[in-house]
Amino acid sequence: MPLSRGIFITFEGLDGCGKTTQIERLAATLIARGFDVLATREPGGSAIGERIRAILLDSRTAGLSPSAELALMFADRAQHVDEVILPALRARRVVLCDRYTDSTEAYQGSGRELGSQIVLELHRELCHDLWPNLTLLLDSDLDASIARARNRNQNATADEERFENEGASFFRRVQRGFEEIAQRDTHRVKRISPGSIQSIQTEILKIVDVAFPELSKHAAVSQ
Ligand code: TYD
Repeated sequence: MPLSRGIFITFEGLDGCGKTTQIERLAATLIARGFDVLATREPGGSAIGERIRAILLDSRTAGLSPSAELALMFADRAQHVDEVILPALRARRVVLCDRYTDSTEAYQGSGRELGSQIVLELHRELCHDLWPNLTLLLDSDLDASIARARNRNQNATADEERFENEGASFFRRVQRGFEEIAQRDTHRVKRISPGSIQSIQTEILKIVDVAFPELSKHAAVSQ
């Protein structure tokens, strides 16, 4: 169903907070309503980005310096924005992205203690200062999230454990980073409180329908 503009929604939160399931569910709902949806992720989301992702997440890349990590996150994002996100928005699609620059501010800015300023400057210079229309921040219990992420990685084929191997103090800084972003940007960032998969899905859909009336069930039927 053609929209009058592209819509860019990002999902953020700690590792293991359940973002991926929620993106799949929102994508399925919007597709069932007849909208053209692109679900993508960072790091990754483009062929080059998936190669950068492998470097970033592999636990064998343990020696990566914080600055090199930051630069690779933005190399991935610059490619993703130019090759995937902007063309999809220009084609008036709904773009759902698993992590974006808020993750860099929380993980590299706060977690690695590089600060927010450099993250926001790189975003402006390398990503056309493109911000999502809406960001859904999934709040989650820190210990439970990390345990879930580690457990999931044990069963995965690819080695994506480098971040999960960090300690609790790193993730506490990441969590604080996300909280600061949410407090600063109350208009864009909506916090979702923990709950069952179903209750979170319902809350997300409510927020999306209010933020974008053109995506609501009613709009889908009448178009
Ligand atoms: P992801 O695959 O989304 O992990 P999860 O499904 O557990 O949330 O993201 C991979 C890791 O990359 C995650 O630990 C967070 C980290 N990351 C950053 O540190 N900075 C960033 O800018 C991005 C996009 C991700």
